[in-house]
Amino acid sequence: MTLTPVEPLPEHEVRVRAPGKVNLSLRVGARQEDGYHPLSTVFQAVSVYEEVVATPSDARTVTLSGVQAELVPTDASNLALRAVEVLARHTGIDDGVHLHLDKGVPVAGGMAGGSADAAAALVACDALWHTGLSRPELIELAAEVGSDVPFILMGHTAVGQGRGHLLTPALTRGEFHWAFAVQDRGLSTSAVYAAFDEVHGGSLGGPDPELDVPLMQALRAGDPRALGAALHNDLQVASLELDPLLAEPLTVATDAGALGVVVSGSGPTVAALGRSRQHALALAAAFTASGVADRVLTATGPVSGARVLAAD
Ligand code: C5P
Repeated sequence: MTLTPVEPLPEHEVRVRAPGKVNLSLRVGARQEDGYHPLSTVFQAVSVYEEVVATPSDARTVTLSGVQAELVPTDASNLALRAVEVLARHTGIDDGVHLHLDKGVPVAGGMAGGSADAAAALVACDALWHTGLSRPELIELAAEVGSDVPFILMGHTAVGQGRGHLLTPALTRGEFHWAFAVQDRGLSTSAVYAAFDEVHGGSLGGPDPELDVPLMQALRAGDPRALGAALHNDLQVASLELDPLLAEPLTVATDAGALGVVVSGSGPTVAALGRSRQHALALAAAFTASGVADRVLTATGPVSGARVLAAD
């Protein structure tokens, strides 16, 4: 057997991979004065990835490739650039950086694609600039960029409270197999939360939604059937209100024997849990055959959080 030599990386290049996520359970409390909703959520990182390459530069700039890349802003509102600003401010570094984002996670899809770019940018610049921050320090900075960014740094499976940024790792066994129905049209997270407020009016109870005990038990036991039955999303009604066509992939997956099916985060991606890798492929095929998705993905979870693939 001959070994193919690995291409040497250009000097000072850092390559980071960050996963997308699905919320296995998302329980939402009443809107607080700061505009955010208290959550009790269980995140799982899945094997759908953003890849970010950071190189030194005079300015702070971003370019994009991959599916739906044209939908992502490249100005200062880009979440990866916002993450760079937060890290630079915190460490007092005024270096530039060029970030290239290769998108694999759906844009505005409820799978934390933008948050994955931000998490990857934090990890990449920490390595590039030799700032040497600890994971807990990076996770704290991540919360300033967005509610889902800390989880993408942590990866695996975790309970999220507060805005979703206060994390506790969850015990899980085994691997779970997913099929995702992806739409070209996105949903704005804040619009979905606003629709949630309208649906519930003043009827919501206290500020602390309860943790999903049966779901945690299913994860500990590594029992996909019990996990499927426990999948839950309080935002689903609001997502369906804004995008009624989402009822279709939900029905298709149920009819195709999914163990459970749920809108991922604020949507519009629909996540269906399969019995096995093979069954997840069959669920994806059902999405495609019925024409209810613009694109399908299959993935496994849990997987690691944002990490450096290679650095000089
Ligand atoms: O934190 P992030 O910037 O990702 O949140 C986007 C929007 O989603 C917020 O501006 C807010 O409207 C809504 N949100 C919320 N409660 C949360 C998380 C997000 O209302 N726990």
